[in-house]
Amino acid sequence: MMTAQLLAYVAFSVFCVLKASSQDTFTAAVYEHAVILPNDTLTPVSREQALALMNQNLDLLKTAIESAAKQGAHIIVTPEDGIYGMNFNRKTIYPYLEDIPDPQVNWIPCNNPNRFGHTQIQERLSCLAKDNSIYVVANIGDKKPCNASDPQCPPDGRYQYNTNVVFDSQGKLVARYHKQNLFMGEDQFNAPKEPEIVTFNTTFGKFGIFTCFDILFHDPAVTLVKDFHVDTILFPTAWMDVLPHLAAIEFHSAWAMGMGVNFLASNIHLPGMRMTGSGIYAPDSPKVFHYDMKTNEAKLLLSQLDSHPNHPVVNWTSYASSIDALSTGNQEFKGYVFHDQYTFVELTGITGNYTICQKDLCCHLSYQMSEKRLDEVYVLGAFDGLHIVEGRYHLQVCTLLKCKTTELHTCGDSVDTASTRFEMFSISGTFGTQYVFPEVLLSKVQLAPGEFQVSSDGRLFSLKPTSEPVLTVTLFGRLYEKDGAPNASLELRVLTLKVMLIVMTPIVYSLY
Ligand SMILES: *[C@@H]1O[C@H](CO)[C@@H](O)[C@H](O)[C@H]1NC(C)=O
Ligand SMILES: *[C@@H]1O[C@H](CO)[C@@H](O)[C@H](O)[C@H]1NC(C)=O
Ligand SMILES: *[C@@H]1O[C@H](CO)[C@@H](O)[C@H](O)[C@H]1NC(C)=O
Ligand SMILES: *[C@@H]1O[C@H](CO)[C@@H](O)[C@H](O)[C@H]1NC(C)=O
Ligand SMILES: *[C@@H]1O[C@H](CO)[C@@H](O)[C@H](O)[C@H]1NC(C)=O
Ligand SMILES: *[C@@H]1O[C@H](CO)[C@@H](O)[C@H](O)[C@H]1NC(C)=O
Repeated sequence: MMTAQLLAYVAFSVFCVLKASSQDTFTAAVYEHAVILPNDTLTPVSREQALALMNQNLDLLKTAIESAAKQGAHIIVTPEDGIYGMNFNRKTIYPYLEDIPDPQVNWIPCNNPNRFGHTQIQERLSCLAKDNSIYVVANIGDKKPCNASDPQCPPDGRYQYNTNVVFDSQGKLVARYHKQNLFMGEDQFNAPKEPEIVTFNTTFGKFGIFTCFDILFHDPAVTLVKDFHVDTILFPTAWMDVLPHLAAIEFHSAWAMGMGVNFLASNIHLPGMRMTGSGIYAPDSPKVFHYDMKTNEAKLLLSQLDSHPNHPVVNWTSYASSIDALSTGNQEFKGYVFHDQYTFVELTGITGNYTICQKDLCCHLSYQMSEKRLDEVYVLGAFDGLHIVEGRYHLQVCTLLKCKTTELHTCGDSVDTASTRFEMFSISGTFGTQYVFPEVLLSKVQLAPGEFQVSSDGRLFSLKPTSEPVLTVTLFGRLYEKDGAPNASLELRVLTLKVMLIVMTPIVYSLY
């Protein structure tokens, strides 16, 4: 028979267990790693040479992991291509690959290194996680043999995957994700036949994972949030900044806000290739971010996050479709943003209200500048269409942006500094999608935490005068269902453009 005392004791222990088994907040770390690249990615190296290079990078990751753990981090994310580098072909990546088993095998490589053949990198990552009692997220390469019984088996008899792995604080492999949306030129890897939905639970929330270019597409990224209700996204990336709308910190923080999740973005640091920009983003605001085109230094970022962030519901068309067109009076003109033809109108006054439309999208803006400078031109732009260069994705975009020069034909060109602050702005659009990502980017490619908000009726508006001059204020919408099936004649145009780009520019502006 249970005494009252025993009952009380049981109740108390259950309470304690419950309390100990979940936590309201946690500390996240992301590491912008200055990756050591292999000298040669065109001729195959031996496994020993491949391991030597990977261990050099792991030595640097080890320092970051130890430092993050000492500062109380529960999880650390390291970048895509952060262990072996980039620019491989199918043959030359091969010595860097390991067979990565399905996490269901319940494996701690640090305790049992020989269970799945030669897996030195997984062993080392597992030991780093275990020895420091921290979740470690890394990007490595997986190989899976196949044969004629599979009609899609590549001629060399194996699948090769760009793969994220997660080891928990005991060193156990808890997640393996094969990148779905490979970027152009990533020919060394195969995409899995179906998008993989990879999640895992912790005492500090539910996690989902994907890689770099995946962020522009519906699967698995949107599905993880909408159908699997993850709290936090883990995002290793090797991201080349493209202004005005696709700088890493800008777009990744906007995705966190638009989707209502925590987002841990770890980029590699290669400023010579315009690869920089990492951060820890909560749905209401970026917590910490890093953008550095000037030095070759790596950077470790830490921040506390809510384990289960709220995500407010926004109707992205409600306000914009409820008001009449705001008077413009100014001449519309066309211009290009990253190869997409926008409709623009110049903001001629220090203050004003404008509407600009393209196809199904009308964008409204109310603004007040601190001063109307003669040496800077800002425009309001609208774009509704299929983007087809370096990826195929349908966009609806409303954007306030600074033109590169006072010549209107430069509106939409990359520019990273500005001189005009805004006293206020409010931008909205008649979006045909619930997937809209709000971006505010200040001069020198900086974010504006705490300076703006999104209302439930779909306005992106300032809370105070901007702390720095403005590069762009943008609502970046995605219409996934209009991406359509790849179209041969369009693909041909993309190819032609790619070749032109490669010929014309030393750096191909691209996202990995
Ligand atoms: C690349 O080559 C240089 C010069 O031969 C050598 O010092 C360096 O260690 C090599 N780096 C790697 C990663 O193999
Ligand atoms: C072909 O591959 C399948 C699975 O990948 C394997 O079960 C089978 O044994 C292989 N057959 C041969 C002849 O290697
Ligand atoms: C995570 O936990 C939830 C409930 O707490 C459960 O429904 C779900 O199946 C778990 N997911 C995984 C991947 O373990
Ligand atoms: C969003 O608002 C518009 C206009 O007020 C309305 O027609 C539409 O049904 C709303 N959408 C949702 C999903 O509530
Ligand atoms: C813009 O609209 C707001 C509110 O609709 C109004 O208060 C303001 O006077 C307008 N500004 C200009 C310059 O027309
Ligand atoms: C592909 O796109 C071109 C140009 O937009 C169009 O003329 C053609 O009908 C499309 N083909 C298919 C199969 O959709």
